[in-house]
Amino acid sequence: MEYTKFLSTNALSRKSSWITQLRRYMIDPSPDLLWLAGGHPDSSLFPFTETTITLKNGQEIHLDPKLMATSLQYGPVEGNTELLKHLSELTQKLHSPPLWSQTQQLVTVGGQDGMAKTFVMLVNSGDYVIVPEPCYAGIFSELTALNPHYLSVEEDEEGMRADLLRSTLEQWKEEVGETHSEKRLKFMYTNPSGSNPSGTNMSEKRRREIYAIACEYDFLILEDDPYYFLQFQEDLPPSFLSLDTEGRVLRFDSFSKTVSAGLRVGYVTGPKVLVEKISQHIMATVMGGSSLSQVLVNELFHKWGMEGFLQHVKEVRDMYRRRRDIALSAAEKHLTGLCEWHEPRGGMFLWLKAPKIKDVQAMLFERGVAKNILLVPGNGFTTRPELPCQYMRASYSTLTPEQMEKAFKILAEVIREEIQLQNDKQTTKDC
Ligand SMILES: Cc1ncc(COP(=O)(O)O)c(C=O)c1O
Repeated sequence: MEYTKFLSTNALSRKSSWITQLRRYMIDPSPDLLWLAGGHPDSSLFPFTETTITLKNGQEIHLDPKLMATSLQYGPVEGNTELLKHLSELTQKLHSPPLWSQTQQLVTVGGQDGMAKTFVMLVNSGDYVIVPEPCYAGIFSELTALNPHYLSVEEDEEGMRADLLRSTLEQWKEEVGETHSEKRLKFMYTNPSGSNPSGTNMSEKRRREIYAIACEYDFLILEDDPYYFLQFQEDLPPSFLSLDTEGRVLRFDSFSKTVSAGLRVGYVTGPKVLVEKISQHIMATVMGGSSLSQVLVNELFHKWGMEGFLQHVKEVRDMYRRRRDIALSAAEKHLTGLCEWHEPRGGMFLWLKAPKIKDVQAMLFERGVAKNILLVPGNGFTTRPELPCQYMRASYSTLTPEQMEKAFKILAEVIREEIQLQNDKQTTKDC
């Protein structure tokens, strides 16, 4: 696959830093090497020396002075070498990427960091990108700043609709595809498992249909999958990475939802040429993720092994599934007749539609907050946030059953009041 056509002018002008040339000596330095290159501080002068971290199950991770020194030092830009070995093993076990020999991995400061840098790598002003409707709101801050044209494609319970994607692209091709050939269709963004905000898991059939369309129309797929382990089913559909026979998928994983959000560790997997470009951007900005965070995640793999890690994520998933069930029964009890929803198949969110409310924003931010509940209005999850929206996102990830019950009871009151207000306004208008 030829990737230059996908790169932005930013990425095309970005050159590998000379510091990168020193990297190969850092990865496995000879003990005899007298290191006069680079600006490494002497870690023996740092105030920290060693630490022991107790895990919830009583096990301990001990960072002795040697490991502590590594944790406090600059590390390789692509990430801790030992951790990368675990990530490689995990990825091959779960996704068996068909083009593994042409694939590279890179640790990022959470999945968000990898995606933001990918957007910069790919998008020139006016390029076309495909996003689901609704879409994870967090991508818009960086992506919209790059001024793309959004092709927004609605989801149903199986994820983005392949028939609508096809008709959108047919129309796009007819209207602009040929005339503005310098503006390219670059990628589709997808959050296929336990989608934020809709809670859908994209079915295998949908994934295969969409992958085939990506090959036909020649665009990349950015697979943002932080809720991969939070799918509430045993048999998981194949990831886009595992379907990728042409090298058009960049996959973003994250430990935020399973190990710790504050450690800020995620990783990108994808075609070497593209991952190398992201790595150059990392060199220019953070110069690599936190070494301490990466050492901790690595030590966790070391302590638990792959099987222990997979057992842990199952337990996390089961807990969220129980919370999902509690949220659903509270919704059933209090919101029936006021809201519509689908059962979330993964993730942390219930996507509610209030069909009798014209726009939920003022209702949530004014009356909702005054009564001590806060939900996210749905308009932030669309490419047209200025338009009124009847959707809202409720998270069930942290509330106790009692709090969930109370929250939806209050939400029902707030919605009833809003309906009353709308009716009163209408009556005044009619008079
Ligand atoms: C769909 C989605 N992608 C990415 C992120 C960012 O995750 P991270 O903490 O790995 O940066 C989030 C966080 O909520 C998310 O919901």
